[in-house]
Amino acid sequence: MLTGAGISAESGVPTFRGKEGLWGKFRAEELATMEAFLRNPEIVWEWYSWRRKLISEVQPNPGHFALAELADYFDSFTLVTQNVDGLHRVAGSTDILELHGNINRNKCVKCEAPFDEVDIDPARIPKCKGCGGSIRPDVVWFGEMLPGEVIEAAFRRSEEADLFFSIGTSAIVHPAASLPMTARRCGATLVEINPEETPLSNLADIRIGAPSGEFLPKLLDAVKARKNQSGQG
Ligand code: OAD
Repeated sequence: MLTGAGISAESGVPTFRGKEGLWGKFRAEELATMEAFLRNPEIVWEWYSWRRKLISEVQPNPGHFALAELADYFDSFTLVTQNVDGLHRVAGSTDILELHGNINRNKCVKCEAPFDEVDIDPARIPKCKGCGGSIRPDVVWFGEMLPGEVIEAAFRRSEEADLFFSIGTSAIVHPAASLPMTARRCGATLVEINPEETPLSNLADIRIGAPSGEFLPKLLDAVKARKNQSGQG
């Protein structure tokens, strides 16, 4: 299972691409790169503080909750997400691989030591207690490597999967976008849930052109009904 910004859209978290997407209004290279942070850390922190506040005010939607419950009906169920909003965990999912980090965590820009205080004043960016480096959000910026263990585990689980859902992602940012095709090449049935077509759409075995917050609860109901039937039989 791979999720992207679209799964949180119905919670009110803006996606990155598309008509209302963040990258239509803001320039990624000025906000989500190491170069931007070194050039103007205050602006980068203002942007992340704004997104943190926005995310702190929203709730998981029925799509997040359905995924958390669906996990109980499978022997093995891995949730790989590109999202940094943490909403899957709030909804109760447990086995989560966060490919792009988590917006509620901070780390040192130099030694990567975690920094626990959550509230950062962009005008007074704190320094690492160990090495004196500036504190940055613990998310993956453009041009940066994904956390090694996390992406390795994501590929391994994709290779082992019988069924792979790609949900609410434009499927263009790699390496995350390679996971669905890796799963399919290794024999998984690939299901895409996205109201818009993506580069994956023609390759998916099943395409659901609906919002995930509408479709996933129906899928959960169907899986539950099936389980009850087989339990009775
Ligand atoms: P995008 O913004 O690229 O794509 C969001 C996808 O969600 C689009 O394909 C929409 O059609 C779809 N969508 C919108 N509403 C939906 C809904 N209710 N249900 C299901 N799908 C819906 O977001 P990502 O693919 O997650 O990376 O973007 C990947 C990465 O690019 C992000 O993690 C971020 C971004 O730049 C970094 O910041 C490193």
